[in-house]
Amino acid sequence: MPIDSPNKDIQPEENSVLICQYRSCLAAGSAEVLAAFEAIEGINYKIVGTGCQGQCSCGPTVRIVPEETWYCRIKPSDVPEIVAQHLVGGSRIEAKLNPRIHIRFSF
Ligand code: FES
Repeated sequence: MPIDSPNKDIQPEENSVLICQYRSCLAAGSAEVLAAFEAIEGINYKIVGTGCQGQCSCGPTVRIVPEETWYCRIKPSDVPEIVAQHLVGGSRIEAKLNPRIHIRFSF
């Protein structure tokens, strides 16, 4: 079932993983991504399915708040790496960052 509005229960200071459950992302497999996050225990983040996050062309969109890290085209198989490297290890996964939001400069 698509969610058509952002989840208003999220507090900015609360560590959360927001997984879009709206049309484009659902068509690209975001329900399975949400399920993969929900299956992992023992992480200090709230896992939340949300409405559209405005990045429909590169879903499934996974957004980590309050730090504002945006991942794009996430598959269920990416979830263990995101959990281990980012949520537990504290390091972003550069190759999966949304390039529309995380602009990379090369000189
Ligand atoms: S449908 Fe997921 S970001 Fe818009």
